[in-house]
Amino acid sequence: MDYNERKEKLTIYLAPMQGLTDAFFRSVIHSCSFANSFDIAVSPFISITHGDLSVAHKKIKDVSVITDSLPVIPQIMGNEPKEFIDLANLLFDYGYTHVNWNLGCPIPKVAKKHHGSGLLHYPDEVNSILSKVIPNIKPCLSIKMRTGYSQTEYMPLIEIFNQYPLESITIHPRLGIQMYEGRIDYEAPRIIAQTSVHKIIYNGDIYTFDDYLFVQNLYPNINNFMIGRGAIANPLVATEIKSSSKLPYDTAKTWYYEYVDKLLSKIEALNKPEQSKINKSKEYFRYIAQHLKLQPENVQNVLQCNNLHDVQCMIKEIVLKHF
Ligand SMILES: Cc1cc2nc3c(=O)[nH]c(=O)nc-3n(C[C@H](O)[C@H](O)[C@H](O)COP(=O)(O)O)c2cc1C
Repeated sequence: MDYNERKEKLTIYLAPMQGLTDAFFRSVIHSCSFANSFDIAVSPFISITHGDLSVAHKKIKDVSVITDSLPVIPQIMGNEPKEFIDLANLLFDYGYTHVNWNLGCPIPKVAKKHHGSGLLHYPDEVNSILSKVIPNIKPCLSIKMRTGYSQTEYMPLIEIFNQYPLESITIHPRLGIQMYEGRIDYEAPRIIAQTSVHKIIYNGDIYTFDDYLFVQNLYPNINNFMIGRGAIANPLVATEIKSSSKLPYDTAKTWYYEYVDKLLSKIEALNKPEQSKINKSKEYFRYIAQHLKLQPENVQNVLQCNNLHDVQCMIKEIVLKHF
């Protein structure tokens, strides 16, 4: 595939991050000058064990209103075929023609119950769930997974996935026990891309345009990239990927400030108690601080402050000073 052909097909996904890249964050991104850089988002997971479908609206609150902003693929987590089918079909009735299955969540409490990455140990169980779910759901299905709990645990799963009409497979090449840190197994996506009949989406540690160039060179046949923490720390990375070049410093600084300003204004406008708005501002700030490579004392000043107005002013000042 030549360079131009590859660029045309390039798709950037906003990764699901519970409590972070939800409808609120998607609306922030949509309101910024660089709104069109992300093509599509996968929602943070909706667990099939979060109450029954009689409280459907509450359960799927994050995706219950389809907006004209970023298209969204709702993500489902669970292992009960009947509940999975009911939820997937309910989401279809809400207008979603595609749902994603979470086979990546590494939280031990979750994994222990054979949910998320916990299912990667059990290919027969995965096969059995797919054989019941696929013929009975109206939307198409994609999968988001890790590599497993031991180095090659993903291999039998890829063979199983090949037997089903999946829309795509997103691979975050870390083991369950690594959570989100430590060495990435860069060989796994290459093997999966060679073995799988499905579209592959690479996900992991893309924070900068250079990070993207690194993985792009590793995988000449992958044209789909999903960005999570990097999208909060530096959403302009998607713009740079799409334009195949770094933004000029002045444009980057203006747009980054616009992003932080809109993020904080929208937090301030939320109909929530002050303390929860302070916590939310600080939660996003941790990612911003990482991108700006702030000194610990700058980070501590913000984290120790307990007044919404002061926290937000400090964050904006820091961005202007340290970008
Ligand atoms: C706080 C947090 C929440 C997450 N929530 C989800 C989730 O709901 N569903 C999911 O599939 N992955 C979830 N992830 C994993 C991310 O989607 C992504 O796979 C991971 O962060 C690696 O990509 P990145 O290096 O681009 O951040 C979460 C990660 C973090 C750090």
